[in-house]
Amino acid sequence: MEIFEEIEPLRAFLQGKRSALNSIGLVPTMGALHAGHLALIRACKAENEVTVSSIYVNPAQFNNQTDLDKYPRSLEADIEMLKAEGCQVLFAPQDTEMYSGKSLTFDFGSLDKVLEGEFRPGHFSGVALVVSKLFNIVQPDRAYFGQKDYQQFQIINQLKEELKFPVELHSVPIVREKSGLALSSRNQRLSDENKTQALFLYHSLTDAKDQILNGVPFAEIKSEVERRAKQNRGVQLEYFELANKNTLQPLEDLKDIHNGIILIAAFVNNVRLIDNILLEKKR
Ligand code: PAF
Repeated sequence: MEIFEEIEPLRAFLQGKRSALNSIGLVPTMGALHAGHLALIRACKAENEVTVSSIYVNPAQFNNQTDLDKYPRSLEADIEMLKAEGCQVLFAPQDTEMYSGKSLTFDFGSLDKVLEGEFRPGHFSGVALVVSKLFNIVQPDRAYFGQKDYQQFQIINQLKEELKFPVELHSVPIVREKSGLALSSRNQRLSDENKTQALFLYHSLTDAKDQILNGVPFAEIKSEVERRAKQNRGVQLEYFELANKNTLQPLEDLKDIHNGIILIAAFVNNVRLIDNILLEKKR
């Protein structure tokens, strides 16, 4: 695997690889890799001749300094995992390579005011900034993101449409532990007991999906989830919402239920976790 910390050598290398026959796929990550990331690498490798992964903990997308400081970092282990998966190129820059002090901000209208956007002001602007930089640096034909960050994918899609990035975006299904817990780099900060508590997220989603498909009004389901969260010492619920999967605005018309998605965010032992479930198909 070729490893680059600087933009110009990476660009020169990719220039040599780019041709009508070779497509370049990008898997942007913040490291602390797990099986969910490896599923992205595999999806990328299946469709592209060259797979580029990036590892960069992007300060611009953290609205909380402690969260940034505590974000798990394991570059050496990540490199071994990428090599084992057959990733050909890694871009792992330092902050000085990515940011020059000046900055840009983005506004995605209604899409970044709800859900994550409401609880993490500025987060999606920071994501859009770093993803724009990565798209400009790597100029991938395709880019791969996890469905766990569902709203992030919608934001990046809007970014691509507005800025005319010639890249095909792919969303890869959530990888879960056997228990149902969605894989996340942040799970490293959970004890076994915390992991059991964290199943609150998955169970709330799957129970709600069954209930909705059986005609139970969402308002009823939501107040029950809020009530259970209050009784659960380890869990602090931030939101639990039913939304239209394209606009992420609240889904009110039940005729539209097959375009629905339920999304949840909660702190478990001060670790912020998110998860979601689409309503389109039966489990
Ligand atoms: O999903 C992530 O890991 C990050 O938000 C991303 C897309 C790599 C941008 O920093």
